[in-house]
Amino acid sequence: MNSDVFKILVTGSRGMLGSDIMNCPSASGGGVKIVGSDIGEFDILDPAAAAGFIDRVKPDAIIHCAAFTNVDAAESDPETAFKVNAMAVRDLASICAGRSIRLALVSTDYVFDGEKKSPYGEYDQPAPINAYGMSKYYAERYAAQLCRHSFIVRTSWLFGSNGPNFVRSILKKAAEAGELSVVDDQIGSPTYTKDLARFLIELVKTEKYGIYHATNEGFCSWHGFAAEILKACGLSGVKLYAVPSEAFERPADRPKNSRLLKTALYYSGFEKFRTWQEALIDYLSETGVS
Ligand SMILES: NC(=O)c1ccc[n+]([C@@H]2O[C@H](COP(=O)([O-])OP(=O)(O)OC[C@H]3O[C@@H](n4cnc5c(N)ncnc54)[C@H](OP(=O)(O)O)[C@@H]3O)[C@@H](O)[C@H]2O)c1
Repeated sequence: MNSDVFKILVTGSRGMLGSDIMNCPSASGGGVKIVGSDIGEFDILDPAAAAGFIDRVKPDAIIHCAAFTNVDAAESDPETAFKVNAMAVRDLASICAGRSIRLALVSTDYVFDGEKKSPYGEYDQPAPINAYGMSKYYAERYAAQLCRHSFIVRTSWLFGSNGPNFVRSILKKAAEAGELSVVDDQIGSPTYTKDLARFLIELVKTEKYGIYHATNEGFCSWHGFAAEILKACGLSGVKLYAVPSEAFERPADRPKNSRLLKTALYYSGFEKFRTWQEALIDYLSETGVS
């Protein structure tokens, strides 16, 4: 630590997760100072600019949220996805290693192929089935191999106030069309960025390095998630149809099973996340989306 204040640099600070880290109550005071950076401060593809910014800020830890997050676009441009998601992490991990800065990489359930019949543990072998998942898998490897002080945090199905997300899309489509078809054969955990933000800040203050799965509690299908959104917004009259993934042709395949076990999080003594249903209610009331 440089001083009495534990300084955290957040990349992608204007994105959906990054902005909730910036706004997290535990980010102000309590001996923590958060500094944000996005493409305007430095491009993560420019390691000299990254190193220069980091040397000016002198963080104790970096929470790396900046990424190429358009899963379908990554299929037609896997090279850019690989550069932004993996090569930039290679350089960032080297920068952190050389300066004893802790690095938390935000990763994804999409590193798994979804074929397992039960939830994935931190110990399960990744086998991505799309270009985005592959780029994040290489990011994980670079972070783990090059930076001894690294945390790899896999999360899933994020929703938050500062970004396009599933909750908003469902409510928009419900208002426009009055009926919806949503896939019911992909299962995972919706996760509120506000809850993940709080965990990431707590995590980087520790030296409990390694792989974590971090999501809100409970599992559902996208169809189940949509049903809960409509119910919570008093829109139970909207017709909701369950359809298989094949009904929606998309450039990138998605894993059918995105369920993640949170063994490392529990074992390390971190507070359990609330259920995704509780988080959804909070999100809807805080953002006034409904
Ligand atoms: N969203 C999900 O459901 C989900 C699920 C699992 C894991 N994750 C991971 O969680 C993290 C945060 O996701 P998110 O949904 O909050 O992402 P997001 O809203 O797309 O935010 C990403 C941010 O990174 C910035 N960025 C992109 N390329 C950059 C570059 N070359 N240099 C500097 N900044 C750059 C973006 O700026 P521009 O907007 O200007 O491009 C944006 O502000 C990502 O690592 C993602 O892979 C997300």
